[in-house]
Amino acid sequence: MKALTPSLAVLAILATAPAYAVDWSKVPGKDITMLYPAQSSYEWVLTPADHSGGGKIREGKNCHECHIGEENTMGDLLVSGKKNEPTPIAGKPGSLKAVVKFAHDDKNLYVHLDFTPGIQPNAKMDTAFETKVTMILNDGGVAESNRFGCWAACHDDAQGMASGADGERTKYLLKTRAKVTRQGGGDALKSPDELAALKTAGYQLEYWQARLNPGAKAVAAAGTIFDKREELKNPAVTADATLADGTWSVTLARPLTAGAPYKDIVAGKTYTVGFAVHAGHTAHRFHYVSFERTMVLDSGTADFVAAK
Ligand code: HEC
Repeated sequence: MKALTPSLAVLAILATAPAYAVDWSKVPGKDITMLYPAQSSYEWVLTPADHSGGGKIREGKNCHECHIGEENTMGDLLVSGKKNEPTPIAGKPGSLKAVVKFAHDDKNLYVHLDFTPGIQPNAKMDTAFETKVTMILNDGGVAESNRFGCWAACHDDAQGMASGADGERTKYLLKTRAKVTRQGGGDALKSPDELAALKTAGYQLEYWQARLNPGAKAVAAAGTIFDKREELKNPAVTADATLADGTWSVTLARPLTAGAPYKDIVAGKTYTVGFAVHAGHTAHRFHYVSFERTMVLDSGTADFVAAK
């Protein structure tokens, strides 16, 4: 009998296979519909004269309490150009549904998304990547993101937004600004001491991203949002993706403990997560976004319980 030596091809596969394997068919998922938000900024949603929910938000209601289940109709209205959208993309669908799953092992937290972008016009904004999948993670340190998810970072004067003019201002968190108006927080920051105190108190968001092209390996990115969105060199996040029959299956992962500026992901804490997909070569605000969801490790009350 011939000795069992693995062929070169098998060795090559072993070498490129990820060091982890979650059997996602065994993990229960939840449907999340992401809507096209147009220029509906944090400041817009909090202003009762612009958004009838604004008053109730100030009284303590959160976005998901009014809006889960309405993402399709909201997205259709906003993408059409009839509300909050001066430059609609013709033919773009108003929403996108994903099935989202979480899991963890001793080392990593994993999030898995299956979604079908459908017929997406090519917006030619991001020529390098057709599709991008992003998760914003908040460990509870950003109170406004506990309540409003991604909207905590989405301001009226960011790039492409109503008060953003031709600027390139990225996402930021409001408490980093010296003065805040209906137009956002501008560029004047609080003092270095005040900013340092905010950081020490854990006032920072993190994002994980997979950048995708059909037939190519996913490119992972990660970063933080504080006084600006800052991409990290050598991301601790990894990304895996496949495309079959028009459906993307994307897994993002990072070590539970990855060192600063990443925060440790631990059991017993409630995390707020928000998801976004840029489809059809879009960039910046021209994405689909979810309302806020909660996630815990192992056990607890949350939209997602990441089991081992
Ligand atoms: C008390 C319920 C309530 C809450 C809480 C609420 N909204 Fe609304 N929202 C509404 C209603 C009602 C409308 C419909 C028209 C309007 O008043 O602007 C709306 C409209 C919108 C629209 C425009 C699309 C449309 O269908 O008109 C967006 C975007 C939106 N809300 C985002 C949010 C976000 C983000 C939050 C959380 C920060 C939020 N809303 C919280 C009630 C609410």
